[in-house]
Amino acid sequence: MEVRDEIRFLLNGRDIGLKDVGASQTLLDFLRIDRRLTGTKEGCAEGDCGACTVLVGRLQDGALRYEAVNACIRFLASVDGCHIVTVEHLRGKDGGLHPVQQAMVDFHGSQCGFCTPGIVMSLYALWMETPVPSEDQIETALQGNLCRCTGYEPIIRAAKAAGDYGTPGDDALAGERTDVTAKLKALRDNRRVETGPADNRAILPANVDDFAQALLESPDATIVAGATDVGLWVTKFLRPIGPAIFLGHLEALRSIEVRDTDIRVGAGVSYSEFDWLVAAHFPQLSEYWNRIAGWQVRNMGTIGGNIANGSPIGDTPPVLIALGAEVILREGLERRKILLENFFIDYGEQDRKQSEFLEEILIPKTDVSRRIAAYKISKRRDEDISSVAAGFCVTVDASQITGARLAFGGMAATPKRAAGAEAALVGQPWGEAAFESAAEALADDFAPLTDWRASADYRMRSAQNLLRRFFLEHDEATVTPVRLSA
Ligand SMILES: Cc1cc2nc3c(=O)[nH]c(=O)nc-3n(C[C@H](O)[C@H](O)[C@H](O)COP(=O)(O)OP(=O)(O)OC[C@H]3O[C@@H](n4cnc5c(N)ncnc54)[C@H](O)[C@@H]3O)c2cc1C
Ligand code: FES
Ligand code: FES
Repeated sequence: MEVRDEIRFLLNGRDIGLKDVGASQTLLDFLRIDRRLTGTKEGCAEGDCGACTVLVGRLQDGALRYEAVNACIRFLASVDGCHIVTVEHLRGKDGGLHPVQQAMVDFHGSQCGFCTPGIVMSLYALWMETPVPSEDQIETALQGNLCRCTGYEPIIRAAKAAGDYGTPGDDALAGERTDVTAKLKALRDNRRVETGPADNRAILPANVDDFAQALLESPDATIVAGATDVGLWVTKFLRPIGPAIFLGHLEALRSIEVRDTDIRVGAGVSYSEFDWLVAAHFPQLSEYWNRIAGWQVRNMGTIGGNIANGSPIGDTPPVLIALGAEVILREGLERRKILLENFFIDYGEQDRKQSEFLEEILIPKTDVSRRIAAYKISKRRDEDISSVAAGFCVTVDASQITGARLAFGGMAATPKRAAGAEAALVGQPWGEAAFESAAEALADDFAPLTDWRASADYRMRSAQNLLRRFFLEHDEATVTPVRLSA
């Protein structure tokens, strides 16, 4: 296999080629320190505040797609073949302020200004897709942007008005689109990339087979997908990650296929790439999905990473376990399929060998007999980790409960099904009594921990109340369907 020793990408209007890029070098440090593009700010360095928001353009199925991401936890090596757009690249039609910037000025959307470039970049990404957004869309776009002093009302007003200041068709990026697409296509040479010193090597496999091979060659390498966990190992814990194998550029791992009986999801599919599938096949989960992290993190973080990290408080495992998902693990050319719930063995221990990786997630299709919901209890609505997360899938046939899969996060050392509560439901008529028994049984299923997110008692009572809430929301006999909003 021919190896390239340089990463190549576009930065605003320039072609960049860099050798010796170490695995742990961040995009933000490169922008600010190497290129002096200091419009992109560093606030938290952990993906929480959005001050470092930039756009990353990449080819997906041949089309150019721009997404807002956090440069602080994005590794430089992972932008090979991409177009990075920073706030310095924004301009209006006449070369002055960009429409989003002018709206921010006119609507007083900035005071100290530290958050402003990041907010402008998030609103720019929104404006390009949706120049006249709803308030909900604006709130979603700003989920990952923290402003300490202005307050969000003027910023939201600016976002609403930005469409009056100019249209995306006249935008500089729209004008550059054909050129950028051609350049990014030309950068693709289907070669493996290896750069950086031996102890901080960054490896970008040429394709999925090469990824499997690279992991066989370096089983101790860190696998990096969206880096929304691994990024923090570097910026917060100063942990070495080299050698690291990056997978974000592998389109084959980012594909979704809806088949006759199930849906195949590549492990590298990001939360945002999964949005349309939620809307089309699991609309009951839309609100929950929108509460995972913030917009920038959802553009980067992958479902495979959320499973593989083995966290007891990841948001996707409970709902995927409730839906009966399986995962495909691959080592070299060998693949095996296991139920997702069996992947989690104990705290910090998963059923995965070092040289294996998570390749696919298989989600069974669902039908109207299955009542499905997912709930998240956290201290903040947006951009927060769950104290308790729950995924429920209850099958009802002629008012009898014939199946129940109840999975929880935050209640044990791993994401876990509530066997006792499920047994209390199955075989019972659908009704309050069955759900009360299930809520009681939860006390034997779990012995949650007290930590700084929540006490054991709070976790248990929340979990029990989620079962009651599920009953109320899905009970057809209830006069008006109850939908408790977050
Ligand atoms: C600000 C912020 C907010 C967040 N909010 C939430 C939240 O609300 N809910 C939530 O659940 N999480 C949240 N997270 C955590 C994180 O976003 C998720 O866990 C994410 O899904 C991880 O995916 P990733 O692609 O970024 O993984 P990475 O960081 O790239 O990797 C995570 C782990 O998985 C391994 N890995 C990744 N892909 C594979 C693979 N295909 N095969 C084998 N191993 C693999 C890596 O080696 C690493 O150990 C948040 C993170 C941040 C920074
Ligand atoms: S610096 Fe706060 S999200 Fe990057
Ligand atoms: S204007 Fe000061 S933090 Fe937003």
